[in-house]
Amino acid sequence: MADLRVKIGGLDLKNPVMTASGTFGYGLEFADFINLEDLGGIIVKGTTLNPREGNPYPRMAETASGMLNCVGLQNKGVDYFCKNIYPQIKDINTNMIVNVSGSCPEDYAECAARIDELEHIPAIELNISCPNVKQGGMAFGVTPEGAASVVKAVREAYHKTLIVKLSPNVTDIVSIAKSVVDAGADSLSLINTLMGMAIDIEKQRPVLSIATGGLSGPAVKPVALRMVWQVAKAVNVPIIGLGGIMNATDAIEFLLAGATAIQIGTANFIDPTITVKVAQGINEYLDKHGYSSVNEIIGALKD
Ligand SMILES: Cc1cc2nc3c(=O)[nH]c(=O)nc-3n(C[C@H](O)[C@H](O)[C@H](O)COP(=O)(O)O)c2cc1C
Repeated sequence: MADLRVKIGGLDLKNPVMTASGTFGYGLEFADFINLEDLGGIIVKGTTLNPREGNPYPRMAETASGMLNCVGLQNKGVDYFCKNIYPQIKDINTNMIVNVSGSCPEDYAECAARIDELEHIPAIELNISCPNVKQGGMAFGVTPEGAASVVKAVREAYHKTLIVKLSPNVTDIVSIAKSVVDAGADSLSLINTLMGMAIDIEKQRPVLSIATGGLSGPAVKPVALRMVWQVAKAVNVPIIGLGGIMNATDAIEFLLAGATAIQIGTANFIDPTITVKVAQGINEYLDKHGYSSVNEIIGALKD
């Protein structure tokens, strides 16, 4: 068996397989299907300073090779998380990471500061795809300045490993990645969902309640892979790749492109055991090709 361990900032991962925020609940929902401790890490649901109801239904739509969602960060807020969820997940022996969202830098920083106090949460992942309420609702993550403003505010308030999750809805992902690293990110994860839309031709209305939503699943993989490859060459922090990973082959593509770890999202809805199968598949690939450690294939793509 090859050595599957990797490092992301201050985190030691047993293997490079993590779960993507919003697709794996708090982990507990999947405990009947897999041993959660077999995963490299679990990124739990998006958490905000104040409770959020999310968007009206319908908020999911199936598309060719993917799905659209506009769940809208439904959650009960950080205090509820600290009081009610944290005690249930704190003893799971893997990296339990909280995905943090907000609508202004101060909200992000305050939420991060509360999570900083939780001993068994070694990292947060910042979702910068959220609309900036103070600047007309444009997502923070679509400009280098907007992205850096959130990361700077959080970096001052948060002292453990800071992962920043990039939005793919941009023209130049590399400039945003660089500004986020300059602002203090320890690691980047990419990609979040791509903005999309579906229409019901009988009703002649959008399928989703707020018309647009985020596209995920196999349809986005080539875009995600291209962005991981570009960003991995441009920055010196570990990259976590995600977007459309359905099997070990997909995961290995991301590792070769330069990702140190990967996350699995939409595929969990199809097969709740997919994460452990992907970890096993990575191991089989390493054995078959005579590698002793997964680190040997990270960024090993030939020209
Ligand atoms: C239902 C659903 C909810 C999601 N919620 C969040 C979230 O709260 N925070 C976040 O950063 N990303 C969220 N995402 C995005 C995923 O974490 C992931 O970036 C995206 O789905 C691409 O990966 P995939 O193709 O493997 O699903 C969500 C995705 C889905 C499908």
